[in-house]
Amino acid sequence: MKIQDVKNVCVVGAGNMGHQIALQCALSGFKTVSTDVVPAVLEKAQKFVEGYLPGRVQKGKMTEEAAKKARSLISFTGDLKEAAKDADIVIEAVLERIDLKRKVFADLDKYAPPAAILATNSSFIVSSRIADSTKRPSQVCNLHFFNPALVMKLVEVVQGPHVSDETAQCMMDFCLKIDKIPIHIKKEVDGFVLNRIFAVIQREALWMLEMGVASFEDIDKACVYGAGHPMGPFRLNDLTGIDLTYDICMSHFLESGNPADLPSPSVVKKVTEGKFGQKTGEGWYSYKK
Ligand SMILES: NC(=O)c1ccc[n+]([C@@H]2O[C@H](COP(=O)([O-])OP(=O)(O)OC[C@H]3O[C@@H](n4cnc5c(N)ncnc54)[C@H](O)[C@@H]3O)[C@@H](O)[C@H]2O)c1
Repeated sequence: MKIQDVKNVCVVGAGNMGHQIALQCALSGFKTVSTDVVPAVLEKAQKFVEGYLPGRVQKGKMTEEAAKKARSLISFTGDLKEAAKDADIVIEAVLERIDLKRKVFADLDKYAPPAAILATNSSFIVSSRIADSTKRPSQVCNLHFFNPALVMKLVEVVQGPHVSDETAQCMMDFCLKIDKIPIHIKKEVDGFVLNRIFAVIQREALWMLEMGVASFEDIDKACVYGAGHPMGPFRLNDLTGIDLTYDICMSHFLESGNPADLPSPSVVKKVTEGKFGQKTGEGWYSYKK
């Protein structure tokens, strides 16, 4: 696939990341289908789009014509087969579970045109663990967006050993077309570039909290006012989802068997209480007001 042949995009999963990735693609002129298995999630995604676009027009950030065009380019369906049937690029953004992703990719391999590139937005799962569930491993790669996907410029394009140069190049070009700044990661490493750096900060922050060194609010303040970060690790964790942190730690533990990889007790407590962060109205901080 070459960038000049890319017209249609399908985004699988319309949660935290998926709905914004889909909208970003539509805003950049690609015909985009957003799909999810939960009808309420799709409805919420559609409502978001229908609120976001007029809001940008009102703020003078977008012309009415551009908003209308983006709205006409994005559609929503619960039917994966229908969503993928004309796609040149599919971006998967379902839950961070390897078995689920493998199943979705096996289905996409049946439904998407043979030339289509199938990319995963996974935060930690490298595409070589998914590619063999398809018959097109050279067209399966990681395309890692950051949250919120409409705002954050960075996208990591990860070229595992099975990924063709043509696929990697097409994804780099695609990122530029959707107004993002791609980096080319030439080796599959767990967590890619930025999350590896963040994981160290998050691990230290949780350890200090649990050792009673400082409150989570003060640890956040240290990063914001001392290091100039836009937000501290706990606020960031509320944005990305404490459930996601839990899933990532559990999948590391299931592979390594190393108890050090288990999610920390305070993360387990939040997840058990259903406090996943912004999306549930409470995480480390409360968002109920
Ligand atoms: N949250 C973040 O900050 C962030 C950042 C970068 C990457 N990611 C990655 O993006 C992916 C999605 O994360 P999220 O935070 O958007 O999760 P989320 O829980 O908000 O959304 C996941 C969505 O996938 C849907 N889904 C589940 N099974 C499906 C299927 N078979 N077909 C279609 N949809 C299905 C769910 O209904 C849900 O709406 C994960 O792999 C995660 O690692 C997340």
